[in-house]
Amino acid sequence: MEKIQQVKAEALANIEQCTTVEALQQVRITVLGKKGPIQSLMMLMKDLAPEEKPSFGAEVNECKQTVAKAIEEKMAELEAGALAARLKAEKIDITLPGISLRLGTMHPLTLVSQEIEDLFIGMGYTVAEGPEVELDFYNFERANIPADHPARDMQDTFYINAKELLRTHTTAIQMRVLEKADGVLPIKVICPGKTYRRDDDDATHSHQFMQAEGLVVDRNITLTDLKGTLQLMAERMFGKGRQIRFRPSYFQFTEPSVEVDVSCHLCGGKGCPVCKGTGWIEVLGAGMVHPNVLKMAGFDPTQCSGFAFGVGLERVAMLKYGIDDIRNFYVNDVRFLKMFDRFD
Ligand code: DAH
Repeated sequence: MEKIQQVKAEALANIEQCTTVEALQQVRITVLGKKGPIQSLMMLMKDLAPEEKPSFGAEVNECKQTVAKAIEEKMAELEAGALAARLKAEKIDITLPGISLRLGTMHPLTLVSQEIEDLFIGMGYTVAEGPEVELDFYNFERANIPADHPARDMQDTFYINAKELLRTHTTAIQMRVLEKADGVLPIKVICPGKTYRRDDDDATHSHQFMQAEGLVVDRNITLTDLKGTLQLMAERMFGKGRQIRFRPSYFQFTEPSVEVDVSCHLCGGKGCPVCKGTGWIEVLGAGMVHPNVLKMAGFDPTQCSGFAFGVGLERVAMLKYGIDDIRNFYVNDVRFLKMFDRFD
């Protein structure tokens, strides 16, 4: 009986000393396990006199239960402590001020391009794209500018080899769209994209720039359709009440060809430094698609007609936002780009 009390006291002391769940689990295995002290007490039973057995057995059982209960209680206590410690360690201080993310802004050319796309999508056009490394065939041949034609000199071209070049105008996309249509009408596309010319960079020239090409081909398309469309574009880009005027011009891929001016949005047409005192600002080239262009793409120019235009996006953005140097679009100065926050 003394031995039982001793085993119990020792076990309870060991349990009490445990400070971690792991240590307590270890104690449980040693004390309650098959080779543990309580089990050894049970083994003593067989040497006892029969009348001693019941009380001894009851005492060992009581010892075992007391120890098991003590382990259970200690385990609950240690687990609660461990959880509390973890909660404390992983506590998030929600009153700390957050780290604010610096948001990017839309590039002004993206803004202008999207505005033009939106306008034309609203009128039932689809957006078409083409490769920047283009075939001479689409950039020139299909645009009615055959090899050796002097007009090629007007567009200082970056050639990659005899057949490939960096497209000098989005008119190349127009030629791809015409070919792909395979004679099926109507065609209504707007084609924004990057373009390249071997220009020396200065305040108004950039060897890389952007254009958006518009093209409509159907039965009975006339110059008045072009005029109405461009009037809408002028008002959308430069504000209500803007007027447009056509001046005769020449492009190989249109006949007749026009250059289009918009009444100055700064002085309203009275004359100012931006419009150089004329009241008008030149913004784009346009015209009726040349019959040769239609024919080469498989259309019958006696059955259909079309208009086309090509607008320089830097020029539009410069006028719209009052930017005086085209190089600003390409140097990626964050201070410049940040100014377009409010136009999102
Ligand atoms: N491709 C011409 C240029 O880059 C612009 C242009 C003029 C496009 C008349 C057209 C057009 O579609 O009809 O200067």
